[in-house]
Amino acid sequence: LANGLGMTPPMGWNSWNHFFCQINETIIKEAADALVSTGLSEVGYKYVNIDDCWAEYDRDAEGYLVPNKVTFPSGIKALADYVHSKGLKLGIYSDAGYRTCSTQMPGSLGYEQKDAQTFASWGIDYLKYDNCNNGDLKPMERYPEMTRALMSTGRPIFVSLCEWGDMHPALWGDRLGNSWRTTNDIQDTWESMISRADQNEAYAVYARPGGWNDPDMLEVGNGGMTTDEYIVHFSIWAISKAPLLVGCDVRKMANDTLTILSNKEVIAINQDPLGVQAKKVRMEGDVEIWAGPLSGYRTVVVLLNRSLNNTYPITAEWDDLGIPPKTAVEAREPWKHVTLEKIFVNKLRAKVRGHSCRMFVLTPVSQSG
Ligand code: GLA
Repeated sequence: LANGLGMTPPMGWNSWNHFFCQINETIIKEAADALVSTGLSEVGYKYVNIDDCWAEYDRDAEGYLVPNKVTFPSGIKALADYVHSKGLKLGIYSDAGYRTCSTQMPGSLGYEQKDAQTFASWGIDYLKYDNCNNGDLKPMERYPEMTRALMSTGRPIFVSLCEWGDMHPALWGDRLGNSWRTTNDIQDTWESMISRADQNEAYAVYARPGGWNDPDMLEVGNGGMTTDEYIVHFSIWAISKAPLLVGCDVRKMANDTLTILSNKEVIAINQDPLGVQAKKVRMEGDVEIWAGPLSGYRTVVVLLNRSLNNTYPITAEWDDLGIPPKTAVEAREPWKHVTLEKIFVNKLRAKVRGHSCRMFVLTPVSQSG
Protein backbone atom coordinates (compact mmCIF):
# COMPACT_ATOMS: atom_id res chain seq x y z
CA LEU A 1 0.00 0.00 0.00
CA ALA A 2 1.47 3.32 -1.09
CA ASN A 3 1.07 5.13 2.22
CA GLY A 4 4.80 5.51 2.76
CA LEU A 5 4.82 2.95 5.57
CA GLY A 6 6.44 -0.46 5.76
CA MET A 7 9.36 0.36 3.48
CA THR A 8 11.07 -2.33 5.55
CA PRO A 9 9.14 -5.05 7.47
CA PRO A 10 7.46 -3.76 10.64
CA MET A 11 9.06 -4.61 13.98
CA GLY A 12 7.41 -4.60 17.37
CA TRP A 13 5.46 -6.64 19.89
CA ASN A 14 1.92 -8.03 19.89
CA SER A 15 -0.12 -9.31 22.82
CA TRP A 16 -1.78 -12.35 21.22
CA ASN A 17 0.78 -15.20 21.12
CA HIS A 18 1.44 -15.01 24.85
CA PHE A 19 -1.59 -13.37 26.48
CA PHE A 20 -4.44 -14.17 24.08
CA CYS A 21 -7.53 -12.44 25.54
CA GLN A 22 -6.02 -11.95 29.00
CA ILE A 23 -4.83 -8.40 28.39
CA ASN A 24 -5.18 -5.07 30.16
CA GLU A 25 -3.63 -1.61 29.99
CA THR A 26 -1.00 -2.43 32.60
CA ILE A 27 0.34 -5.34 30.54
CA ILE A 28 0.49 -3.15 27.43
CA LYS A 29 2.28 -0.34 29.30
CA GLU A 30 4.72 -2.76 30.91
CA ALA A 31 5.40 -4.32 27.53
CA ALA A 32 6.24 -0.85 26.19
CA ASP A 33 8.49 -0.23 29.21
CA ALA A 34 10.21 -3.58 28.64
CA LEU A 35 10.84 -2.89 24.95
CA VAL A 36 12.77 0.17 26.07
CA SER A 37 14.57 -1.27 29.12
CA THR A 38 15.72 -4.44 27.33
CA GLY A 39 17.08 -2.43 24.38
CA LEU A 40 14.64 -4.04 21.94
CA SER A 41 13.21 -0.68 20.90
CA GLU A 42 16.70 0.58 20.14
CA VAL A 43 17.35 -2.27 17.70
CA GLY A 44 14.09 -1.52 15.87
CA TYR A 45 11.07 -2.95 17.71
CA LYS A 46 8.80 0.13 17.71
CA TYR A 47 5.22 -1.10 17.43
CA VAL A 48 3.30 -2.05 20.57
CA ASN A 49 0.29 -3.87 19.19
CA ILE A 50 -2.87 -4.63 21.13
CA ASP A 51 -4.59 -7.67 19.64
CA ASP A 52 -8.16 -8.93 20.13
CA CYS A 53 -10.22 -8.35 23.30
CA TRP A 54 -9.53 -4.69 24.09
CA ALA A 55 -13.11 -3.41 23.66
CA GLU A 56 -16.48 -3.70 25.33
CA TYR A 57 -18.79 -6.39 23.94
CA ASP A 58 -21.11 -3.75 22.42
CA ARG A 59 -20.71 -0.40 20.70
CA ASP A 60 -22.08 2.69 22.45
CA ALA A 61 -25.43 4.29 21.57
CA GLU A 62 -23.79 6.31 18.77
CA GLY A 63 -22.17 3.21 17.30
CA TYR A 64 -18.60 3.82 18.50
CA LEU A 65 -16.25 1.17 19.85
CA VAL A 66 -15.66 1.50 23.59
CA PRO A 67 -12.45 0.38 25.31
CA ASN A 68 -13.18 -2.33 27.87
CA LYS A 69 -14.13 -0.48 31.06
CA VAL A 70 -12.57 -3.03 33.38
CA THR A 71 -9.32 -3.86 31.59
CA PHE A 72 -8.65 -0.56 29.76
CA PRO A 73 -10.23 1.99 32.16
CA SER A 74 -7.95 4.85 31.06
CA GLY A 75 -8.91 4.38 27.43
CA ILE A 76 -6.79 3.88 24.34
CA LYS A 77 -5.89 7.54 23.79
CA ALA A 78 -4.10 7.62 27.14
CA LEU A 79 -2.28 4.41 26.22
CA ALA A 80 -1.24 5.89 22.86
CA ASP A 81 0.08 8.99 24.62
CA TYR A 82 2.05 6.81 27.02
CA VAL A 83 3.49 4.62 24.26
CA HIS A 84 4.34 7.67 22.12
CA SER A 85 6.11 9.32 25.07
CA LYS A 86 8.51 6.36 25.01
CA GLY A 87 9.26 6.86 21.33
CA LEU A 88 7.14 3.86 20.36
CA LYS A 89 4.02 3.42 18.22
CA LEU A 90 0.67 1.93 19.13
CA GLY A 91 -1.14 -0.70 17.10
CA ILE A 92 -4.69 -1.94 17.52
CA TYR A 93 -6.88 -4.74 16.23
CA SER A 94 -10.23 -5.02 14.54
CA ASP A 95 -12.00 -7.39 12.19
CA ALA A 96 -13.51 -7.16 8.70
CA GLY A 97 -16.62 -8.89 9.96
CA TYR A 98 -19.45 -8.55 12.43
CA ARG A 99 -17.50 -9.75 15.46
CA THR A 100 -13.79 -10.36 16.06
CA CYS A 101 -12.33 -13.86 16.18
CA SER A 102 -12.68 -14.12 19.95
CA THR A 103 -16.30 -12.92 19.52
CA GLN A 104 -15.64 -10.77 22.60
CA MET A 105 -15.90 -7.46 20.73
CA PRO A 106 -17.64 -6.01 17.67
CA GLY A 107 -16.05 -6.13 14.21
CA SER A 108 -15.75 -3.09 11.97
CA LEU A 109 -17.81 -4.29 9.00
CA GLY A 110 -20.29 -1.50 8.23
CA TYR A 111 -18.56 0.82 10.71
CA GLU A 112 -15.34 1.44 8.81
CA GLN A 113 -15.56 5.26 8.72
CA LYS A 114 -16.45 5.54 12.40
CA ASP A 115 -13.76 3.13 13.52
CA ALA A 116 -11.04 4.58 11.31
CA GLN A 117 -11.87 8.06 12.66
CA THR A 118 -11.80 6.71 16.20
CA PHE A 119 -8.43 5.00 15.71
CA ALA A 120 -6.93 8.13 14.13
CA SER A 121 -8.30 10.36 16.91
CA TRP A 122 -6.72 8.08 19.51
CA GLY A 123 -3.34 8.29 17.78
CA ILE A 124 -3.21 4.74 16.48
CA ASP A 125 -0.28 3.93 14.16
CA TYR A 126 -1.02 0.36 13.03
CA LEU A 127 -4.19 -1.64 12.43
CA LYS A 128 -4.34 -5.42 12.29
CA TYR A 129 -7.53 -6.20 10.39
CA ASP A 130 -8.80 -9.75 10.91
CA ASN A 131 -11.16 -11.97 8.94
CA CYS A 132 -13.65 -13.70 11.29
CA ASN A 133 -17.46 -13.71 11.25
CA ASN A 134 -17.58 -12.15 7.84
CA GLY A 135 -21.00 -13.33 6.65
CA ASP A 136 -19.31 -15.17 3.77
CA LEU A 137 -18.58 -11.88 2.02
CA LYS A 138 -15.43 -11.97 -0.09
CA PRO A 139 -12.33 -10.10 1.11
CA MET A 140 -12.75 -7.61 -1.73
CA GLU A 141 -16.22 -6.79 -0.41
CA ARG A 142 -14.86 -6.06 3.07
CA TYR A 143 -11.21 -4.96 3.18
CA PRO A 144 -11.09 -1.99 0.74
CA GLU A 145 -13.63 0.03 2.75
CA MET A 146 -11.38 0.10 5.82
CA THR A 147 -8.25 0.98 3.85
CA ARG A 148 -10.12 3.89 2.20
CA ALA A 149 -11.45 5.01 5.56
CA LEU A 150 -7.99 4.94 7.13
CA MET A 151 -6.55 6.86 4.19
CA SER A 152 -9.25 9.50 4.50
CA THR A 153 -8.25 10.22 8.10
CA GLY A 154 -4.95 11.58 6.81
CA ARG A 155 -3.05 9.80 9.59
CA PRO A 156 -0.34 7.36 8.42
CA ILE A 157 -1.54 4.00 9.74
CA PHE A 158 0.21 0.73 8.87
CA VAL A 159 -2.40 -1.70 7.51
CA SER A 160 -1.87 -5.36 8.44
CA LEU A 161 -4.33 -7.57 6.58
CA CYS A 162 -5.17 -10.73 8.45
CA GLU A 163 -6.78 -12.89 5.80
CA TRP A 164 -5.17 -16.24 6.50
CA GLY A 165 -4.01 -17.09 3.01
CA ASP A 166 -7.21 -18.80 1.87
CA MET A 167 -7.88 -16.24 -0.85
CA HIS A 168 -4.20 -15.77 -1.73
CA PRO A 169 -3.89 -12.24 -0.30
CA ALA A 170 -0.37 -11.96 -1.73
CA LEU A 171 -2.09 -11.49 -5.10
CA TRP A 172 -4.16 -8.46 -4.01
CA GLY A 173 -2.80 -7.39 -0.63
CA ASP A 174 -0.44 -4.70 -1.88
CA ARG A 175 -3.37 -2.55 -3.00
CA LEU A 176 -4.95 -2.61 0.45
CA GLY A 177 -2.29 -3.21 3.05
CA ASN A 178 1.35 -3.06 4.07
CA SER A 179 1.41 -6.75 5.00
CA TRP A 180 -0.86 -9.73 4.56
CA ARG A 181 -1.02 -13.01 6.40
CA THR A 182 -0.26 -15.99 4.20
CA THR A 183 -1.07 -18.64 6.82
CA ASN A 184 -3.37 -19.75 9.60
CA ASP A 185 -2.38 -19.00 13.17
CA ILE A 186 1.06 -20.09 14.29
CA GLN A 187 1.50 -22.25 17.37
CA ASP A 188 4.56 -22.57 19.56
CA THR A 189 5.80 -25.84 18.02
CA TRP A 190 8.43 -26.73 15.41
CA GLU A 191 5.83 -28.31 13.09
CA SER A 192 3.56 -25.27 13.18
CA MET A 193 6.42 -22.84 12.72
CA ILE A 194 8.15 -24.67 9.87
CA SER A 195 4.92 -25.33 7.95
CA ARG A 196 4.09 -21.62 8.09
CA ALA A 197 7.56 -20.86 6.79
CA ASP A 198 6.88 -23.24 3.87
CA GLN A 199 3.46 -21.78 3.02
CA ASN A 200 4.79 -18.24 3.15
CA GLU A 201 7.73 -19.08 0.91
CA ALA A 202 5.41 -19.88 -1.99
CA TYR A 203 4.54 -16.18 -2.26
CA ALA A 204 8.10 -14.84 -2.10
CA VAL A 205 7.92 -12.96 -5.39
CA TYR A 206 5.09 -10.75 -4.11
CA ALA A 207 7.02 -9.19 -1.20
CA ARG A 208 8.45 -5.72 -1.71
CA PRO A 209 8.98 -2.46 0.17
CA GLY A 210 5.55 -1.26 1.28
CA GLY A 211 3.94 -4.73 1.18
CA TRP A 212 5.14 -7.89 2.92
CA ASN A 213 4.10 -11.52 3.24
CA ASP A 214 3.23 -12.31 6.86
CA PRO A 215 3.70 -15.91 8.09
CA ASP A 216 2.32 -14.78 11.50
CA MET A 217 3.97 -13.47 14.64
CA LEU A 218 7.02 -14.74 16.48
CA GLU A 219 6.81 -17.46 19.13
CA VAL A 220 10.45 -16.99 20.21
CA GLY A 221 10.54 -17.06 24.01
CA ASN A 222 7.18 -18.72 24.60
CA GLY A 223 8.79 -22.00 25.65
CA GLY A 224 7.55 -24.58 23.13
CA MET A 225 10.73 -24.88 21.07
CA THR A 226 14.44 -25.36 21.72
CA THR A 227 16.90 -22.51 21.35
CA ASP A 228 18.11 -23.99 18.03
CA GLU A 229 14.51 -24.19 16.80
CA TYR A 230 13.83 -20.58 17.79
CA ILE A 231 16.99 -19.57 15.92
CA VAL A 232 15.60 -21.33 12.84
CA HIS A 233 12.26 -19.52 13.40
CA PHE A 234 13.93 -16.11 13.67
CA SER A 235 16.35 -16.80 10.80
CA ILE A 236 13.63 -17.81 8.35
CA TRP A 237 11.39 -14.89 9.37
CA ALA A 238 14.33 -12.50 8.97
CA ILE A 239 15.36 -13.64 5.49
CA SER A 240 11.70 -13.91 4.42
CA LYS A 241 11.30 -10.19 5.14
CA ALA A 242 8.49 -11.12 7.51
CA PRO A 243 7.13 -8.69 10.08
CA LEU A 244 9.16 -9.22 13.28
CA LEU A 245 6.44 -9.02 15.91
CA VAL A 246 7.64 -10.44 19.19
CA GLY A 247 5.01 -12.65 20.79
CA CYS A 248 6.45 -13.50 24.20
CA ASP A 249 6.16 -11.80 27.58
CA VAL A 250 8.90 -9.21 27.07
CA ARG A 251 8.72 -8.31 30.77
CA LYS A 252 10.26 -11.68 31.68
CA MET A 253 12.56 -12.86 28.93
CA ALA A 254 15.30 -15.46 29.34
CA ASN A 255 18.75 -14.34 28.17
CA ASP A 256 18.58 -16.72 25.20
CA THR A 257 15.36 -15.11 24.03
CA LEU A 258 16.73 -11.59 24.22
CA THR A 259 19.94 -12.66 22.47
CA ILE A 260 17.97 -14.09 19.55
CA LEU A 261 15.53 -11.19 19.22
CA SER A 262 18.19 -8.50 19.49
CA ASN A 263 20.80 -9.87 17.09
CA LYS A 264 21.50 -6.70 15.12
CA GLU A 265 23.14 -8.48 12.19
CA VAL A 266 20.13 -10.73 11.65
CA ILE A 267 17.75 -7.80 12.07
CA ALA A 268 19.74 -5.86 9.45
CA ILE A 269 19.11 -8.70 6.99
CA ASN A 270 15.37 -8.42 7.62
CA GLN A 271 15.52 -4.65 7.28
CA ASP A 272 17.80 -4.63 4.22
CA PRO A 273 16.72 -1.83 1.84
CA LEU A 274 16.58 -4.18 -1.16
CA GLY A 275 13.50 -5.80 0.37
CA VAL A 276 13.68 -9.11 -1.51
CA GLN A 277 12.29 -12.21 0.20
CA ALA A 278 14.59 -15.26 0.24
CA LYS A 279 13.45 -18.48 -1.44
CA LYS A 280 14.20 -22.17 -1.17
CA VAL A 281 16.81 -22.77 -3.83
CA ARG A 282 17.47 -26.44 -3.12
CA MET A 283 15.61 -29.22 -1.28
CA GLU A 284 16.99 -32.71 -0.71
CA GLY A 285 15.17 -34.77 1.85
CA ASP A 286 15.60 -33.09 5.22
CA VAL A 287 18.13 -30.63 3.89
CA GLU A 288 17.15 -27.27 2.46
CA ILE A 289 18.98 -24.21 1.24
CA TRP A 290 17.21 -20.87 1.41
CA ALA A 291 18.80 -17.81 -0.18
CA GLY A 292 18.12 -14.31 -1.35
CA PRO A 293 19.90 -11.16 -2.48
CA LEU A 294 20.82 -8.31 -0.15
CA SER A 295 21.97 -4.81 -0.99
CA GLY A 296 25.64 -4.34 -1.90
CA TYR A 297 25.85 -7.46 -4.11
CA ARG A 298 25.56 -9.60 -0.99
CA THR A 299 23.64 -12.86 -0.63
CA VAL A 300 22.12 -14.33 2.50
CA VAL A 301 21.96 -18.11 2.70
CA VAL A 302 20.41 -20.34 5.34
CA LEU A 303 21.41 -23.99 5.46
CA LEU A 304 18.48 -25.75 7.14
CA ASN A 305 18.42 -29.26 8.58
CA ARG A 306 14.83 -30.36 9.15
CA SER A 307 15.70 -33.77 10.58
CA LEU A 308 15.34 -34.13 14.32
CA ASN A 309 18.62 -35.75 15.31
CA ASN A 310 20.96 -36.16 12.36
CA THR A 311 23.82 -33.77 11.71
CA TYR A 312 24.43 -33.22 7.99
CA PRO A 313 27.10 -31.44 6.00
CA ILE A 314 25.28 -29.10 3.62
CA THR A 315 26.85 -27.63 0.51
CA ALA A 316 25.54 -24.43 -1.04
CA GLU A 317 26.60 -23.96 -4.65
CA TRP A 318 26.81 -20.59 -6.35
CA ASP A 319 24.59 -21.88 -9.19
CA ASP A 320 21.78 -22.40 -6.68
CA LEU A 321 22.41 -19.12 -4.88
CA GLY A 322 22.38 -17.03 -8.04
CA ILE A 323 25.99 -15.92 -7.62
CA PRO A 324 28.05 -15.76 -10.86
CA PRO A 325 30.47 -18.69 -11.24
CA LYS A 326 34.02 -18.20 -9.95
CA THR A 327 32.97 -15.33 -7.69
CA ALA A 328 35.12 -15.27 -4.56
CA VAL A 329 33.26 -14.33 -1.40
CA GLU A 330 33.86 -13.64 2.21
CA ALA A 331 31.40 -15.43 4.52
CA ARG A 332 30.11 -13.97 7.73
CA GLU A 333 28.01 -15.87 10.28
CA PRO A 334 25.63 -13.38 11.87
CA TRP A 335 24.66 -15.78 14.67
CA LYS A 336 28.31 -16.18 15.69
CA HIS A 337 29.40 -12.64 14.87
CA VAL A 338 32.41 -13.99 12.99
CA THR A 339 33.78 -13.65 9.48
CA LEU A 340 35.33 -16.93 8.36
CA GLU A 341 39.01 -16.74 7.47
CA LYS A 342 38.63 -18.79 4.33
CA ILE A 343 37.60 -17.19 1.02
CA PHE A 344 34.99 -19.30 -0.76
CA VAL A 345 34.71 -19.85 -4.51
CA ASN A 346 31.78 -21.66 -6.16
CA LYS A 347 30.58 -23.37 -3.01
CA LEU A 348 30.36 -23.25 0.74
CA ARG A 349 30.01 -26.31 2.93
CA ALA A 350 29.06 -26.46 6.61
CA LYS A 351 27.82 -28.96 9.17
CA VAL A 352 24.33 -28.40 10.50
CA ARG A 353 22.72 -30.12 13.50
CA GLY A 354 19.15 -31.48 13.49
CA HIS A 355 16.33 -28.91 13.78
CA SER A 356 18.82 -26.14 13.37
CA CYS A 357 20.35 -23.93 10.74
CA ARG A 358 23.48 -21.97 9.84
CA MET A 359 23.19 -18.55 8.29
CA PHE A 360 25.86 -16.89 6.16
CA VAL A 361 26.11 -13.53 4.49
CA LEU A 362 28.31 -13.75 1.41
CA THR A 363 30.11 -10.63 0.17
CA PRO A 364 32.16 -10.66 -3.06
CA VAL A 365 35.85 -9.86 -2.60
CA SER A 366 38.51 -9.07 -5.16
CA GLN A 367 40.61 -12.11 -6.02
CA SER A 368 44.34 -11.91 -5.65
CA GLY A 369 46.33 -14.13 -8.04
C1 GLA B 1 -7.19 -14.70 14.55
C2 GLA B 1 -5.85 -14.14 14.11
C3 GLA B 1 -4.88 -14.18 15.29
C4 GLA B 1 -5.46 -13.39 16.45
C5 GLA B 1 -6.83 -13.92 16.82
C6 GLA B 1 -7.54 -13.04 17.83
O1 GLA B 1 -7.13 -16.05 14.84
O2 GLA B 1 -5.33 -14.87 13.03
O3 GLA B 1 -3.61 -13.66 14.92
O4 GLA B 1 -5.53 -12.03 16.11
O5 GLA B 1 -7.68 -13.99 15.68
O6 GLA B 1 -8.80 -13.55 18.18
